[in-house]
Amino acid sequence: MCGIVGYIGKRAGAPIVLDGLQALEYRGYDSAGLVTINATGATLTKQVGRVAGLTAAVEPQAQPDHLAIGHTRWATHGVPSMFNAHPHTNTAKTIFVVHNGIIENYVQLRDRLQALGYQFVSETDTEVIPHLIDYYSQRLPSFTAALKAALADLRGAYAIAVITTIRPTTLYAARLSSPLVIGVGDGEHYLASDPAAIMEHTKQVLYLDDYDLATITADKISVHNLKRDKPIEHTVELLDFDNEQAQLGDYAHFMLKEIHEAPATIRSATLGRSLAAKNIVKLGGLESVVAQLKYIDRIVIVACGTSYYAGLVGEYLIEELAGIPVEVHLASEFKYRHEPFSRSTALLAISQSGETADTIAALKKVEDYGVLRLGIVNAVGSTIARMTDAGVYCHAGPEQAVASTKAFIAQVTVLIQIALHLSNGRTKLFKPLLKELDDLPAKAQIVLDQAETIKKIAAKYKDYRDFLFIGRQYNFPCALEGALKLKEVSYIHAEGYAAGEMKHGPLAMIDKDFPSFALATNSFLLDKTYSNIEEIRARKGPVVAIATVGNKHIADLADDVIYLPETLEQTQPILTAIAMQLFSYYIALARGHNVDRPRNLAKSVTVE
Ligand code: G6P
Repeated sequence: MCGIVGYIGKRAGAPIVLDGLQALEYRGYDSAGLVTINATGATLTKQVGRVAGLTAAVEPQAQPDHLAIGHTRWATHGVPSMFNAHPHTNTAKTIFVVHNGIIENYVQLRDRLQALGYQFVSETDTEVIPHLIDYYSQRLPSFTAALKAALADLRGAYAIAVITTIRPTTLYAARLSSPLVIGVGDGEHYLASDPAAIMEHTKQVLYLDDYDLATITADKISVHNLKRDKPIEHTVELLDFDNEQAQLGDYAHFMLKEIHEAPATIRSATLGRSLAAKNIVKLGGLESVVAQLKYIDRIVIVACGTSYYAGLVGEYLIEELAGIPVEVHLASEFKYRHEPFSRSTALLAISQSGETADTIAALKKVEDYGVLRLGIVNAVGSTIARMTDAGVYCHAGPEQAVASTKAFIAQVTVLIQIALHLSNGRTKLFKPLLKELDDLPAKAQIVLDQAETIKKIAAKYKDYRDFLFIGRQYNFPCALEGALKLKEVSYIHAEGYAAGEMKHGPLAMIDKDFPSFALATNSFLLDKTYSNIEEIRARKGPVVAIATVGNKHIADLADDVIYLPETLEQTQPILTAIAMQLFSYYIALARGHNVDRPRNLAKSVTVE
C-alpha cells in the first residue's frame, strides 16, 4: 500500500527519494508525488501511475534541494488522480504532508476547517493535516507546537512526513499504528515507511514508536513521545537485509523467483533451530518466555490472507503434535469479537510484513488482558515483531510479489518447529519430523523441477472461469491457500473447500466447465478423497490432482496429475503449496496479467 520516503542531507534529495519510491513499488500504488524545499521555496510534482512517470516529470527540473519527501498512494479516499495524490499542502503552499493510514475523523476536521475558510482541493482524508498545521501555526509560537497540536486532533492511524518552507532544513515525522523508520547516514538522514526504500544507502536504522514525533536535520535526530510527553532515545539497529535478495536476477518475475526460493527458505527457517542430530528444536526467540509457555493451555492465532491459511495449518500441527487447543481467527474479525480470554491463553500473530493493520489491531486488543503475545514475522524490526513479547522470525528475506509464496513456506516451517517445541518431545513424530525438515529442501527442489509440466497443465486450464480446490486434513487449509493464490494473480474465481463438504453444496456447481484441483497426496484419508474425485467425475467436472509419486490409481481418476515426492502429512502443505503456486503463476502469465502486481491488491495492507 502507500509508501513514504524522505531525505535531508548534503545531496540532492529528489533522486534519492525517487529511487526509494521505486523500491516500494512492490507494495502496490496508483499515483506518486514528490516535493523538495530550499530556502527560496518548494517544488511539487505529482503523477497518476508509475514512479517512472514521476521521475520523468521531475528530472527536467533538476532539483538540487537537500530536503525532499515523496509518496506512493494506494487509493482509499477518492480515486487515483493528481488532486488526490500526495504530498498535500496548505493553501499558501508552505506546508507539505505525505501520509499512510486513515484519519478517521477527517470529515469533522474538514468541516471545522472549511467553516474557518480553508479551501480543500482533494477528496482525501490526508488534506486536513496540512490545513490543520497551518491553522495552529498561525496561533502557536513555533512550527513544532503547531505540529503537536495538529497531531493531537487526529484520530485513526498515520505515518506522516512533513516539510515546510518555514524550516527548510528540517524533516518532521510522526507515527501512530503505521510504521516509520529513520535511516542514519553521515551528515544525512533518510525516512521511510519500509526499510526496503533506504537499505541501499544505509543499514543503520531506528524505528519510531506510536506517538513519536521526530525532528530530523542533516546532523541530528530528536524524538519526542507525545503520549509520554518526554524525549526518547531510540537505539540504532542494523538492518539484516541483503540488497541482492531484493533484486530480480535472472527471473522474469518476483513471484517466480520467490517460489524458486522455497528450498533456501526452508533451510534458513530451520538453520540452527532444528537439530536432527541432537534431536532438539532450539527456538531462541521463545527462550525468554519458556516458563510462561509451560502454562499455556490455549493458543489463538490471528492473521490475514495467506498468513491466515498458514495459521490454519498451524492449528492442525500444534493440536496434533503438542496437544494444545488452537483457534485461528481472521484478524479483521477477531478485533470485534467478544471473546473470553484467560491468562493461560497465548495470542500468536502471523504476518509476513509485520505491518498488517488488522493484525496489529488484534494484538492491541489484548494489550490489557495480560496474555502472552507471540509472533511469527518475516520483516525484522517491523511493528508486529516489536509489539509481541516473543516470537520466531521466518528469515525468508524480502518478499516482493504481492501474492505471498515463500513466506507461506517459511511460516509453515516455523509452525512445525513451534509445534515440536511445545510438544516437549512428547510426540512420536518428533524425530521423524526433524529428519523430514532436513530432507525437505531437496524435495522442494524436486517439485520446482516440474515447473515445465505444471506450466503445460496450466496452459490447458487457463481459460476456465471457475476453479474448486479440495483437500482433507492438512490439505484442507492448503486448498484454501491454493484458491486464494489462483484468484489473486489470475482473477479466476476460485474456492477452497474441505473435500468432505462437497455434498453439502459445492457439488451443485460442478459440470464440464467447472474444474477442480484435488489435493490427493498420501494420507490415511486418501480413499475418502478418491470418492470425492469420483463424485466430481460423475458430473463431468475436469480434475487436476496433486498426488504422491508412485500413486498408480490417480491417473485413472484425474485428467492431469502433478506428482510430488513422498513426505509426512505434517510437511505436505509445504510441497503442495509450491506446486499450487507454480500452477497459479503460469495461469496468470498465460492470461497476460501483471503477475507481481495484481490489480486492486497491495502487498502490505496498512489500513483496515
Ligand atoms: C496482503 C498480501 C497477502 C498477505 C496478506 C497478509 O493481502 O497481498 O499476500 O498474505 O496481506 O499480510 P501479512 O504481511 O500480514 O502476512
